[in-house]
Amino acid sequence: MVLDRIALVRGDITEMDVDAVVNAANTSLLGGGGVDGAIHRAAGPELLEACRPLRGCATGDAKITMGYGLPARYVIHTPGPVWHGGQQGEAKLLASCYRRSLELARDHDCKTVAFPAISCGVYGYPVEQACAVALKAITDFLKDDDSLEKVYLVAFGDEVAEEYRRLLG
Ligand code: APR
Repeated sequence: MVLDRIALVRGDITEMDVDAVVNAANTSLLGGGGVDGAIHRAAGPELLEACRPLRGCATGDAKITMGYGLPARYVIHTPGPVWHGGQQGEAKLLASCYRRSLELARDHDCKTVAFPAISCGVYGYPVEQACAVALKAITDFLKDDDSLEKVYLVAFGDEVAEEYRRLLG
């Protein structure tokens, strides 16, 4: 069963005691606002020092660092697509963020991973569409992988929580 390995959680992803938290980063990997800012604040300055040599990350790809001051062992940084109306491959890029992040988590023997709603803030991706893309990418991955025990969907705001609740039934 795949859906019993997915859990919706309300709250702040920086407090999640999981093997890896996913950061909704930008392509520079040098920090920002939103969840990126929260993760860097909670992890401490070592996180930025660890990101510098990574020399950025392409939209839809993902790179991993240690979690430093976070409860999570790892941070997986993935730049989501900026929403431009949906005709510029945004859905494929967003799905790729989730898939690549899960691949990195698996490759680092993670059992538990927590995702924020990538691109649903500053990047303006419509929540309903983003949550559907996220859930499909995650379930498609979990169908072929039994190493990950739990994928947490962390909803900071009500809109994302309501949408995931609707999709998860
Ligand atoms: N925990 C969990 N989710 C959070 C948190 C938090 N502490 N803070 C914000 N969020 C949620 C937002 O409510 C939104 O639903 O994360 C989702 C993604 O919002 P953003 O952080 O704005 O990320 P995104 O839309 O992907 O934009 C990325 O913003 O912060 C910059 O450097 C970042 O340039 C990049 C851009």
